[in-house]
Amino acid sequence: MTQSTQDAELTQVLPAVTTAPRPAHPADRAQPDRRARRSRGFAFPARMGTRTPTVGLPIAVEPRPLATLEGRNVSAWFGERQVLDRVNLTMPAGVITSLIGPSGCGKSTFLRILNRMHELVPAASLAGEVLLDGEDIYDPERKLVDARKHIGMVFQKPNPFPAMSIYDNVIAGLTLTGVRASNDEKDYLVESCLTKAGLWTEVRDRLRAPGGGLSGGQQQRLCIARSLAVTPRILLMDEPCSALDPTSTRVIEETMLELAHEVTIVIVTHNMQQAQRVSQNCAFFLAAQGTPGGIVEHGPTDLMFGDPIDSRTADYVNGRFG
Ligand SMILES: Nc1ncnc2c1ncn2[C@@H]1O[C@H](COP(=O)(O)OP(=O)(O)O)[C@@H](O)[C@H]1O
Ligand SMILES: [Mg+2]
Repeated sequence: MTQSTQDAELTQVLPAVTTAPRPAHPADRAQPDRRARRSRGFAFPARMGTRTPTVGLPIAVEPRPLATLEGRNVSAWFGERQVLDRVNLTMPAGVITSLIGPSGCGKSTFLRILNRMHELVPAASLAGEVLLDGEDIYDPERKLVDARKHIGMVFQKPNPFPAMSIYDNVIAGLTLTGVRASNDEKDYLVESCLTKAGLWTEVRDRLRAPGGGLSGGQQQRLCIARSLAVTPRILLMDEPCSALDPTSTRVIEETMLELAHEVTIVIVTHNMQQAQRVSQNCAFFLAAQGTPGGIVEHGPTDLMFGDPIDSRTADYVNGRFG
């Protein structure tokens, strides 16, 4: 990972207040899709069980309806080099969508475009639209901080503030996004977010201990709790389990399935079993040698794995390359 990408990740939890101008590019104009993009009907959200705290005070944050995220003709460049070419993908409300594909095909770049992190990378530019419930998050009228608040992100490497307490890690995003809360509200939020992230019972007795003292899997769940504290409508997860052992991976997967009733989740994973266990929809990204990445095929996960349309998808999901 480059230094600039790491900086951008940290900035994700420290939302910037200035907005970078959106680079103009010819691909910004609506164009017919060159590549045949196959698509099938979307899966509907499964009803998941809920896990709520047993005690707590009401908090001023209203539960919000599930949101749909849609990327339209999303292209991306690093300098002169184009790495994504007009990607179209709808990530329906309440559905877990997995993004799969070999390394370097632009999955992380696509994810970073979905919450305006890509524009923080020096020399990076993009074109296209990202619609959150129909509203373009790149609209010049919209603030960057709003996109980050509504669209949270969890990274491959857990990145809690190591010296900060578990408690303060959870509420770190509040002040940064300008949300004021009383101590009672903060207590409630910390318990509720840690509960949703599946970590409460493990840390309830040491909330003032530093976040850096937790195991890798616990740190990742702490990062999930921190993301949830600003009540995002979308949660993006970039290979959230690839640095974790199988037991921690299972706990995170269970957590994702429970969270899916209140936040729309998009996960990048290299683990084909994980994509099948957690996601209802799936998109397969590929970049042919020397060309920008794009989506070969997307649709319900069971069909993508059980009856793919494109032979490249079949080869990838069956482990024949990548
Ligand atoms: N900060 C960066 N600067 C320049 N090129 C980058 C940067 N980040 C990613 N890339 C390039 O963009 C392409 C897509 O990368 P990425 O989105 O990370 O792919 P994936 O997540 O599918 O592995 C790759 O060729 C990668 O080398
Ligand atoms: Mg990646």
